[in-house]
Amino acid sequence: MSFAIGLEPQAILIFGVFLVFAPSSMTQRALITGITGQDGSYLAELLLKKNYEVHGIIRRASTFNTDRIDHIYVDAHDPQARLFLHYGDLTDGTTLRRILEQVQPTEVYNLGAQSHVRVSFDAPEYTVDAVAMGTLRLLEAIRDYQQRTGIRVKFYQAGSSEMFGLVQEIPQKETTPFYPRSPYACAKVYGYWQTVNYREAYNLFACNGILFNHESPRRGETFVTRKITRAVSRIVAGKQDKLYLGNLDAKRDWGYAKDYVEGMWMMLQQPQPDDYVLATGETHTVREFVERAFALVGLPITWKGSGQAEQGLYKDQVLIEIDPRYYRPTEVDLLLGDASKAKRVLGWEPKVSFPQLVELMVLADLEAIGLDPDPILGERRTLNGLLSEDRAFIRTQLGVHYD
Ligand code: NAP
Ligand code: GDD
Repeated sequence: MSFAIGLEPQAILIFGVFLVFAPSSMTQRALITGITGQDGSYLAELLLKKNYEVHGIIRRASTFNTDRIDHIYVDAHDPQARLFLHYGDLTDGTTLRRILEQVQPTEVYNLGAQSHVRVSFDAPEYTVDAVAMGTLRLLEAIRDYQQRTGIRVKFYQAGSSEMFGLVQEIPQKETTPFYPRSPYACAKVYGYWQTVNYREAYNLFACNGILFNHESPRRGETFVTRKITRAVSRIVAGKQDKLYLGNLDAKRDWGYAKDYVEGMWMMLQQPQPDDYVLATGETHTVREFVERAFALVGLPITWKGSGQAEQGLYKDQVLIEIDPRYYRPTEVDLLLGDASKAKRVLGWEPKVSFPQLVELMVLADLEAIGLDPDPILGERRTLNGLLSEDRAFIRTQLGVHYD
């Protein structure tokens, strides 16, 4: 590892191993798994703004899969380039090791995952391989790298409020026991405890973020919030008649993804590694999200019937129906987080409220489909340019989706 001229690294001896800390003015180098995902793209932007050199692991796909980061990518031949992409996969430990050796990062953010809870019931082995074993592979690679070089690497693990599952207390905080309800959540619990164990066993600077749901215009199209806001824009544009949903009564603590990636970075800037909940402290039903999103475009919804026969209507037009294939074999009924530790220690607080989140997502989807939001939202529009940079990077293709 080479250090910038004139700057001396500092070192301390722990368990017979010298750990070298980068001086604060040295260029920081981050490695992000899952850089092409919602959070990865926001985190990459944030770190580039903070002058980091950013490296991301991308998967080979037969179609382009870098839409969310295309706007920040500069050709690697350009001397100004500070974002570099490497092919790899969390199921491929050899490549993870090779990338780590090449990149020599000071911070690693493990955001890569098969992150869809419903899909994890269909593909449990793959989900567990990528999410649980993937975390272990990365931790092992970092452990060896750190022991061999003496260079300290800070590690962030993307833990999830899904780990609370069948919640054992309300609200959920860092000390609330886990009760996972899906293959995805079980895998995240494994990743969480391995992260704790590597911190304790090998003195790794490793943090778990226990993040409650966070959304944005870059949210994958099959997660419920984006599925709703995308459908709203398509219905307004006359490209879709109805929206089929599953459990309308599930409650989630929904925040804005950009706020949450800042919290990830803050965790790694602390003097000691620790685990933190990031949440808004508010919970809302899927039904409320639907009502608010449709009302914004002047389509107030009334509900008729119950269970699988329930329908959401605008006047006498059925806009929402239930399709039980979107139910989960075991559901997480309620999530509500208590982020007071993050506020106290990190100074982290969410900035975007639930109504603002719904509005910014509806707005972005209207624009993505080529509609002018102003006449559609009229006086209901409140954001006025806030968060505008989110709007340009949304897939506009129709897409065929199971969930
Ligand atoms: P996302 O949009 O689904 O992105 C997932 C990323 O992981 C994508 O870049 C994806 O690559 C990559 N990936 C998938 N399988 C992989 C594999 N086998 N090897 C390497 N990379 C792989 O997820 P997100 O919402 O940004 O969430 C980021 C992380 O936080 C995930 O670990 C998620 O489980 C966790 N989390 C999310 C939330 C939330 O509300 N968003 C809350 C708590 C925790 P492709 O683009 O090629 O598919
Ligand atoms: N996806 C989806 N599609 N969910 C639906 C639908 C539908 O048509 N209808 C109702 N829901 C309900 C789900 O049953 C669930 O209770 C809730 O909406 C939220 O579902 P998702 O948006 O798929 O997110 P999630 O809460 O299951 O998982 C997300 O948040 C976790 C953090 O708590 C993902 O981002 C996970 O990766 C993340 O860990």
